[in-house]
Amino acid sequence: MIDTFLFFCLCSWSLAGVFGVDAVQSVSVTKGDSVTLNVTDIQTNDKIEWRFRQRLIAEINIKNNESTFYNDSADGRFRDRLKLDQTGSLIITNTRTTDSGLYTVTSSTRNTLLNTFNLSVYAHLPVPVISSISSQNSSSSSSSQQNCSLLCSVVNVGHVTLSWYKGNSLLSSISVSDLSISLSLPLEVEHQDNNTYSCVINNPIRNQTTHLNISKHCQLHPDCICCCDTFEAVIRLVFAVVVGVAAVAVLVYDIRSTRSEQHGRD
Ligand SMILES: *[C@@H]1O[C@H](CO)[C@@H](O)[C@H](O)[C@H]1NC(C)=O
Ligand SMILES: *[C@@H]1O[C@H](CO)[C@@H](O)[C@H](O)[C@H]1NC(C)=O
Ligand SMILES: *[C@@H]1O[C@H](CO)[C@@H](O)[C@H](O)[C@H]1NC(C)=O
Ligand SMILES: *[C@@H]1O[C@H](CO)[C@@H](O)[C@H](O)[C@H]1NC(C)=O
Ligand SMILES: *[C@@H]1O[C@H](CO)[C@@H](O)[C@H](O)[C@H]1NC(C)=O
Ligand SMILES: *[C@@H]1O[C@H](CO)[C@@H](O)[C@H](O)[C@H]1NC(C)=O
Ligand SMILES: *[C@@H]1O[C@H](CO)[C@@H](O)[C@H](O)[C@H]1NC(C)=O
Ligand SMILES: *[C@@H]1O[C@H](CO)[C@@H](O)[C@H](O)[C@H]1NC(C)=O
Ligand SMILES: *[C@@H]1O[C@H](CO)[C@@H](O)[C@H](O)[C@H]1NC(C)=O
Repeated sequence: MIDTFLFFCLCSWSLAGVFGVDAVQSVSVTKGDSVTLNVTDIQTNDKIEWRFRQRLIAEINIKNNESTFYNDSADGRFRDRLKLDQTGSLIITNTRTTDSGLYTVTSSTRNTLLNTFNLSVYAHLPVPVISSISSQNSSSSSSSQQNCSLLCSVVNVGHVTLSWYKGNSLLSSISVSDLSISLSLPLEVEHQDNNTYSCVINNPIRNQTTHLNISKHCQLHPDCICCCDTFEAVIRLVFAVVVGVAAVAVLVYDIRSTRSEQHGRD
């Protein structure tokens, strides 16, 4: 019984070793960062080959530290962005989302798969923007005046989730897996509500939060107040100019008539 179990274990272990079944290491980075894919179990006389989606991209002879880069391989996407250190580890600089995928490293001298990496490169997260939706249905009941309709939005995102939180509890969320899509998520709050609300965007490695400030985001008709202000200022200016010009005109007329009166007397 124990023998069978041991055999089973050894067998799966060796199969796993040969086919790298157990050895997929997930590595996640943000676009633009560098990443080092570390080789384990290297031997001093190894010749090491790196493959991306099964295409040879680089190799190194550990003994004499001689490396070769296949810059045209994999559609040339890694051109001038790969380095190898003398342990055979692969360094990818200035990562792009298109670098995501499976990387394998083999020893060609020993004909052995050494490591498999699943690299995920995530785009930068934009800061969520909260805006109030001006209510078109102003004819609705007066209680809607107590409410504020908001929208939290992000543009050009992929592989993210956008969520509204009230304190620490999730109110709603929306997810997208495509690249370059715009997302928005509504929320309705009362003007007097003094809970803390926040809109959060996250991917598997990062998040960005924008806190709701009801007195800032829920101003009633901010456009109108702004344009009324401007309009009033213009009216005041025009009025001041008109009054000023009139005053000068009256003054000039007054001086002239006084002079002509004096001339008439002389
Ligand atoms: C590889 O090793 C270096 C140095 O030990 C470490 O900084 C880096 O995070 C490792 N890379 C991965 C993908 O674990
Ligand atoms: C190995 O070669 C690289 C360049 O190909 C060099 O930067 C590095 O210093 C070399 N390492 C050793 C130990 O010679
Ligand atoms: C290939 O890329 C490496 C750096 O990744 C660079 O040193 C080398 O000059 C490039 N070779 C060609 C032929 O462009
Ligand atoms: C690699 O990682 C991505 C994202 O985490 C996942 O969707 C994919 O299934 C993984 N692939 C493998 C072969 O593990
Ligand atoms: C306005 O009313 C229509 C139907 O009467 C409704 O579909 C729409 O969602 C309302 N809009 C807002 C902002 O409440
Ligand atoms: C105002 O918002 C609250 C939730 O914040 C909701 O229960 C209520 O129905 C809303 N009132 C109107 C008129 O939309
Ligand atoms: C919210 O503010 C009102 C006064 O504006 C206060 O009466 C109420 O207790 C506050 N609620 C909480 C949960 O702080
Ligand atoms: C955002 O990330 C921080 C760590 O970077 C974590 O502590 C926090 O719980 C995350 N927030 C959400 C809403 O996922
Ligand atoms: C909320 O917005 C108001 C008006 O813009 C501002 O005076 C106040 O400091 C803000 N509160 C917070 C917590 O940011």
